[in-house]
Amino acid sequence: MEFTCMSIIIVLLSLALSFGFSSSEVITLRKGSSLSVEKPEHDFLVSSNRNFSAGFYAVGNNAYSFAVWFNPNNGQTSRERTVVWMANRDNPVNGKRSKLFLFKTGNLILTDAGKFTVWATNTDSLSNPQLLLQDTGNLVLRNSEGVVLWQSFDFPTDTLLPQQHLTRITKLISSRTRNNHSSGFYQLFFDDDNLLKLLYNGPDVSSVYWPDPWLVSWEAGRSTFNNSRVAVLDSLGNLTSSDDFSSMAYDYGRVIQRRLKLDYDGNIRLYSRENGGEEWVVSWQAKSQPCRVHGICGANSTCNYDPSSVTGRKCYCLPGYRLKNQTDWSYGCEPNFEMTCNRSETGFLKLRHVEFYGYDYNFLKNITLEKCKNECLQLCNCKAFQYTFRSDEGFSYCYYKTLLLNGYRSPSYEGDTYIKLPKIILSSIKKSVEETNSACAKGVTIVLERAYTKGNGNSLVTSLLWFVSAIGGFEIACILLVWFFLFRTQPKSVKDPEGYHLTATGFRKFSYSELKEATQRFSQEIGRGGGGIVYKGVLLDKRVAAIKRLDEANQGEGEFLAEVSIIGRLNHMNLIEMWGYCVEGKHRLLVYEYMENGSLSENLLRNSLNWVQRLKIALGTAKGLAYLHEECLEWILHCDIKPQNILLDSNHQPKVADFGLSKLLNRNDLNNSSISRIRGTRGYMAPEWIFNSPITSKVDVYSFGIVVLEILTGKSPTTVIQTIDDGVEVQNRRLVTWVRETKSRGTAEASWVKQIIDPVMEGNYDVGKMETLAGVALQCVEEEKDARPTMRQVVEMLQNHEIDY
Ligand SMILES: *[C@@H]1O[C@H](CO)[C@@H](O)[C@H](O)[C@H]1NC(C)=O
Ligand SMILES: *[C@@H]1O[C@H](CO)[C@@H](O)[C@H](O)[C@H]1NC(C)=O
Ligand SMILES: *[C@@H]1O[C@H](CO)[C@@H](O)[C@H](O)[C@H]1NC(C)=O
Ligand SMILES: *[C@@H]1O[C@H](CO)[C@@H](O)[C@H](O)[C@H]1NC(C)=O
Ligand SMILES: *[C@@H]1O[C@H](CO)[C@@H](O)[C@H](O)[C@H]1NC(C)=O
Ligand SMILES: *[C@@H]1O[C@H](CO)[C@@H](O)[C@H](O)[C@H]1NC(C)=O
Ligand SMILES: *[C@@H]1O[C@H](CO)[C@@H](O)[C@H](O)[C@H]1NC(C)=O
Ligand SMILES: *[C@@H]1O[C@H](CO)[C@@H](O)[C@H](O)[C@H]1NC(C)=O
Repeated sequence: MEFTCMSIIIVLLSLALSFGFSSSEVITLRKGSSLSVEKPEHDFLVSSNRNFSAGFYAVGNNAYSFAVWFNPNNGQTSRERTVVWMANRDNPVNGKRSKLFLFKTGNLILTDAGKFTVWATNTDSLSNPQLLLQDTGNLVLRNSEGVVLWQSFDFPTDTLLPQQHLTRITKLISSRTRNNHSSGFYQLFFDDDNLLKLLYNGPDVSSVYWPDPWLVSWEAGRSTFNNSRVAVLDSLGNLTSSDDFSSMAYDYGRVIQRRLKLDYDGNIRLYSRENGGEEWVVSWQAKSQPCRVHGICGANSTCNYDPSSVTGRKCYCLPGYRLKNQTDWSYGCEPNFEMTCNRSETGFLKLRHVEFYGYDYNFLKNITLEKCKNECLQLCNCKAFQYTFRSDEGFSYCYYKTLLLNGYRSPSYEGDTYIKLPKIILSSIKKSVEETNSACAKGVTIVLERAYTKGNGNSLVTSLLWFVSAIGGFEIACILLVWFFLFRTQPKSVKDPEGYHLTATGFRKFSYSELKEATQRFSQEIGRGGGGIVYKGVLLDKRVAAIKRLDEANQGEGEFLAEVSIIGRLNHMNLIEMWGYCVEGKHRLLVYEYMENGSLSENLLRNSLNWVQRLKIALGTAKGLAYLHEECLEWILHCDIKPQNILLDSNHQPKVADFGLSKLLNRNDLNNSSISRIRGTRGYMAPEWIFNSPITSKVDVYSFGIVVLEILTGKSPTTVIQTIDDGVEVQNRRLVTWVRETKSRGTAEASWVKQIIDPVMEGNYDVGKMETLAGVALQCVEEEKDARPTMRQVVEMLQNHEIDY
């Protein structure tokens, strides 16, 4: 009697120990036992380091999948779980009587509602099988001898954990949508040529989009020779593959939580989370341009780069087409019209800077636009054609399209697409398109009335309407209306629900101590102005960075993040790249790429630029600014264009720096009725600043014009130039006046340009091209803002005169 009593106590004690006193979580699942869906809060496996759990995870209403997830750090149970694996992503089970059951025979099965088997490992072993979750996140079924019968690492879903191998027989498949975990259209896999690729495998078509499909393997830095086909992420953050691909996390070298995920938007991202932290940050991603992922907007649509949206892009149906499924862009758009093959009833609509990648029916070189059009008209199947001028070859290409897929629009794409539409549709569309475009073409992009400070939604809508109808006369600040519209009213939309900051490649948050270390306690100052001091620094991954420490830190963290994440998404070869930021307490820092060759102003002082380089710098700067102002996409005014803010890379390609800073610095001034008018630098500021008139993108055009005059003459706008009028009187002139007067005195024989050009060039330049450039610069510095061209027009004028190298 005593003996049995004792043994019952022992049994009870050991039970209590094995399940733990605090909760009923399980470390191993033994043969003959099960986990039930009905107690998802209690019935789950935990890894011994407690970083991972495996159990039933709700994927919908009364729908569950058996999953492995990262536990929230610090017991923050409220936060969403980060799922890394699923057994039955495509067949969720019922919330009643569903079970994961381990048979004595070694088979692990998942039953739906106690009846159907929806998933099984089909393993068998008689020697004491058990299921456990390893510290790596690997769910392992093994026998008492330690032989692995089955492991989740061999059957990945959309995530690869450190040390997990992606092999020739496994692949990652994205989720269908953000909230639907079933298999989607994107895959990461090893192709038959041994290369690791990203594939869009849609319902109708499929295509590879990473590495860039127009590159051959070695151009993409890959090798097709190694047949082992394996990719692995190590715990320090190095992702390597047998085809020679390798990439490092921006926070490489530290042992923190990491995962590589093929996201539902078709991009692979490496995420990391500080030990004890709650937020995942992107430390690397494969595609920096979200619109370059195939299939993202579906057929008959274009993907527009849109830095103000969380995903960085926005889909639009082609004119004349309508969205097929209101909730899902991947179905694309369908025509709103009946297409006829009668040539006299069809015409074309030009879409600027739009490309449809792939699916060319044919292409013709060196033919005129007219001929290209006619060929497409002849072909009943031709839905559109793409017409691209290739400046390297000196003639145009014409591509015929029978399918309109992978459409995207980007100001940096220098071709146009002409879509075929019935003439009736065309006449109605053309009108509306022209109306929208003209608002941009006039350069009236940024207007903001003072009333915004009252900050209610309706007045913002009204100001947007005012803006569209292009009525000026308001007090206008150097600010982007869209920013306010999107972020001031709903600042939360910046943060992706998955808890990371989604932006261009590597754009990330730095800690203050990290930047302090990188700059060796802010010891090497390389510049000043624009609201802060710039230091040189070396990041953990050895990249050299320019780190700007902003003076004022009176801006809230949320607002700062909203703005910085937009600036971080701007992506153009003539804009300096922002790698990240730091916001901690009062500290606000920005991290940029570092330019070895310094600023334009230093180079001008050093007399180190020849005339070809000077032209290149003028054109590149114009392109960068045109992109910032571009066509209702990026409404950002720079407001402080000057040679100190134009940096040069090793090829003397210019990169505009310090854009968007007006937003980061002047927030507080805006609350005063006198909107800050102290932007800009003496000598480069447009008359509007002084005369209290509306500030538009034309202020940047003016400053650009001054910079070009400085490039040409080598003279700063603040120097006083002495001229001798009529051979007697000595006059003091400002730069602009001097150039203008010299031009008006010019004659056909002796070009006026020769009198203004920087003497250090000693006559070594192309007079014609310099004259064009000077002419454009003079238009840019017109006193009357409407007389100045837009930056896009400047680029076109310079390109038409072949000032393009
Ligand atoms: C998820 O997507 C799949 C495939 O499109 C669909 O069959 C399923 O019904 C969706 N699930 C939910 C919960 O919407
Ligand atoms: C990452 O892995 C690749 C390939 O194994 C290697 O060449 C590279 O040196 C590694 N990088 C670091 C920082 O260890
Ligand atoms: C092929 O790739 C594997 C894995 O990266 C590597 O271990 C092996 O050395 C490579 N083989 C050759 C011949 O380079
Ligand atoms: C588990 O998480 C803790 C705390 O976040 C961390 O210190 C530890 O390194 C993690 N272990 C592994 C194997 O990831
Ligand atoms: C749109 O797609 C959703 C999810 O894929 C689907 O449930 C819905 O029925 C579709 N709607 C239409 C009108 O096709
Ligand atoms: C796209 O438009 C074409 C007509 O231009 C139409 O035939 C096709 O069905 C559309 N694609 C989809 C997915 O609706
Ligand atoms: C094409 O359209 C024109 C004008 O609508 C009409 O006169 C002509 O008969 C049509 N041709 C054919 C082959 O249908
Ligand atoms: C392009 O066409 C023009 C006129 O048809 C011709 O003069 C020129 O040689 C062509 N260029 C090339 C590179 O074929």
